[in-house]
Amino acid sequence: MCGIVGYVGPQPALEVVVNGLARLEYRGYDSAGVAVLGRGALHTDKRAGKLANLRRALEERPISGDGAGIGHTRWATHGAPNDVNAHPHVDNDNRVAIVHNGIIENFAALRLELEEQGCKFLSETDTEVASHLLSTTLASRGDGDLAGAMRDVCKRLEGAFTLVAVSTDDPDLVVAARRNSPLVVGRGEGENFLASDVAAFIAHTREAVELGQDQVVELRADSVVVTDYDGDPVEVNEYHVDWDASAAEKDGYDYFMLKEIVEQPRAVADTLLGRVTVDGQLTLDEMRLSPAELRGVEKIVIIACGTSYHAGLIAKYAVEHWCRIPCEVEVASEFRYRDPILDQQTLVIAISQSGESMDTLMAVRYAREQRAKVLAICNVNGSTIPRESDGVLYTHAGPEVGVAATKTFLTQLAACYLIGLYLAQVRGMKFGDEINAVIAQLATMPEQIEKVLDTVQPVRELAHSLADADTVLFLGRHVGYPVAMEGALKLKELAYMHAEAFAAGELKHGPIALIEEGLPVVVVVPSPKGRSVLHDKIVSNIQEVRARGARTIVIAEEGDESVRPYSDVLIEIPAVPTLLQPIVSTIPMQVFACELALAKGNDVDQPRNLAKSVTVE
Ligand code: M6R
Repeated sequence: MCGIVGYVGPQPALEVVVNGLARLEYRGYDSAGVAVLGRGALHTDKRAGKLANLRRALEERPISGDGAGIGHTRWATHGAPNDVNAHPHVDNDNRVAIVHNGIIENFAALRLELEEQGCKFLSETDTEVASHLLSTTLASRGDGDLAGAMRDVCKRLEGAFTLVAVSTDDPDLVVAARRNSPLVVGRGEGENFLASDVAAFIAHTREAVELGQDQVVELRADSVVVTDYDGDPVEVNEYHVDWDASAAEKDGYDYFMLKEIVEQPRAVADTLLGRVTVDGQLTLDEMRLSPAELRGVEKIVIIACGTSYHAGLIAKYAVEHWCRIPCEVEVASEFRYRDPILDQQTLVIAISQSGESMDTLMAVRYAREQRAKVLAICNVNGSTIPRESDGVLYTHAGPEVGVAATKTFLTQLAACYLIGLYLAQVRGMKFGDEINAVIAQLATMPEQIEKVLDTVQPVRELAHSLADADTVLFLGRHVGYPVAMEGALKLKELAYMHAEAFAAGELKHGPIALIEEGLPVVVVVPSPKGRSVLHDKIVSNIQEVRARGARTIVIAEEGDESVRPYSDVLIEIPAVPTLLQPIVSTIPMQVFACELALAKGNDVDQPRNLAKSVTVE
C-alpha cells in the first residue's frame, strides 16, 4: 500500500523522487505528492489521481530545492483520495513534512490532544497527526534533532507505519522510522536513498540495507545511521539486489502485466534452478529447517491471501498426496480469529509474493506465538514475512509490477511442489527415483508454459468477443478448482466483472440455477489419462450446463477429443501430470482476464481500488 521515496545527495532531489515514485506507483495510485528542501524553505506539491497529475502540476508550477526530498503515492485509508488528503503532510509552520504508509490506530486521541495545543488540521488523514506531533516534539526538545524527535513520536504511535520526514532545520537530512510496514535504504556513492521497495532506486544503486522492526534511520549524502527507538545503534543487514533496472521496465510492452505473463517460463526456470543436485536430490538448505524438524511435522497449515491463497489450495493436493501429512489451507485474514490448533509439530507455510501482506504477517506472528514452525514462500528478498519466519524458500520471479499476480503465482506453485517433494524425500515417503521422476517433469514446465503462450491467440480473440458479458462462471475439479478460483479472481480485479468459481461437483447443489442462455462458463478439465473418473465427471458437468444454454469455454489437454462436442470454444493445453496441470491451465485464464479488461479500456497494471501489496489489515 502507498509507496515512499526519500533522497539526499547531489542530484536534483525532485527528479530522483518523482522518478522513484513512478516505479512505486503500483503500490497505490489514488494521489501523489513531493516535498523538497531549498533555501531554508519547504516546497511541496500533491495531487489527487495518478502520478501523471502531479507531474503535470509540477511542469505548470515548478518547485525546486537543493536539499533532500521525499515523495509518496497513496492508497487511501483515512480520508478520500483528494489533493488535501494526499501526502506529504506539513506542520502549521511549514517546517516539517512527512509521508506515511500504514495506519496510525490512535490518531483520533492524538488529534484531540494536538488540537487542544492549537494545531490546525487540514486533512481527514491519520498521517497529519504525525506531522504535527513531530513538529511539536522537535520544538519542545529544542535541540533540532529530527531523528530524536522521530524516536519520541514513534513511541507514542500505535499501529503500522513507515514514516519519512524532512525539516527545514536540517535540509540535507532525511529521517525515517519503520514499524510493520516496509522500508529499505539504497546506499549510493555520495548519495543515499530510501524507499518502500528497491525498485524505486535500482536505477541508481543495487546496494541495499534492510531496516528492521522499530528502527529509525538518519540518511545523509555520506552516511546511514540506524538506531532503535531508544537511540541505540543496531546491526543492519546489507545486501546486493541481483536484478537490474531493466527488469522493472516495460520492455516495449504496453503493460507490465503483458510482459510478466510472457516472463513466466524464465520465472519458473529460475525458481527451480540450483535446487536439485546432480544425483537428483533436492537441496533446500536456505529453508533453515533441519531434516529432523521436518520429520517431526505432524500437520501442515498454509496461510495466504488472494492469488497466493490459491497457490496454497493447489499445494494441499500435492503435499497430502506425496507426503501423507494432513494439510489445511486458510485465508490469512481469518486464521488467528478462529483459535486454530497449532503446536511445535505444526509446520505453517506462509505464501506471500510481497512478503508484506499485513494479514499474512499477523497470521505468521500468531503461529509463532503458538510455537509452530513457520516457513515462508516469498518473492521479495529481505521483506518482513521471511524475516520473521523460521525459514524461507524464495521464488525467483523478478519484480512483479502489475497489480495482478501472474508470474509470481506460477513460481509459488513451483516452490510449493519443491517443498512437497523435499518433505517426501526427507520423511522417506517416496523413493529417490519417484522424486526424480517428478523433478524431471517439473523441469519441463518452462517449456510447456512456452507452448501455452505460443497458442493463446484464440483466447485473446475470445476475450474481446466477451467484453460485454455481465457474468462469467468458472468450474473445476481437484487442482482445477483453485485454478478456476484464480481465473475468477483475475476477471474481477481486472475487468470489474462478476465472476465466480465453483467446484464442478457442487453445481447441482445450487449454482446450476444461475445458468441461462449464452452465459459464458469456463471449465478446467483434468487429464483423461488412465480413464480418470474426475475427467468423466466433469465432461458430464459440461454437458449439464450446455444443455441449459451456457456457452462453454473448455480448457483441456491436447488430444482430449471427448470434450470437443460439448465445447463452444476449446482451448488446448499440453499434457502434463495432473498435479502439475495448474502451471499450464492458469495461463489461458490470465490472458483471458487481461485481454477482456483491455477490451473494456481498463488499466490492467493499476486496476481501480487495488494496490499491489496490502500492508493494512
Ligand atoms: O503479496 P501477497 O502474495 O501476500 O499478496 C496477496 C494478495 O494481495 C495478492 O495475491 C492479490 O490477490 C493479487 N492482486 C491478485 O492478483
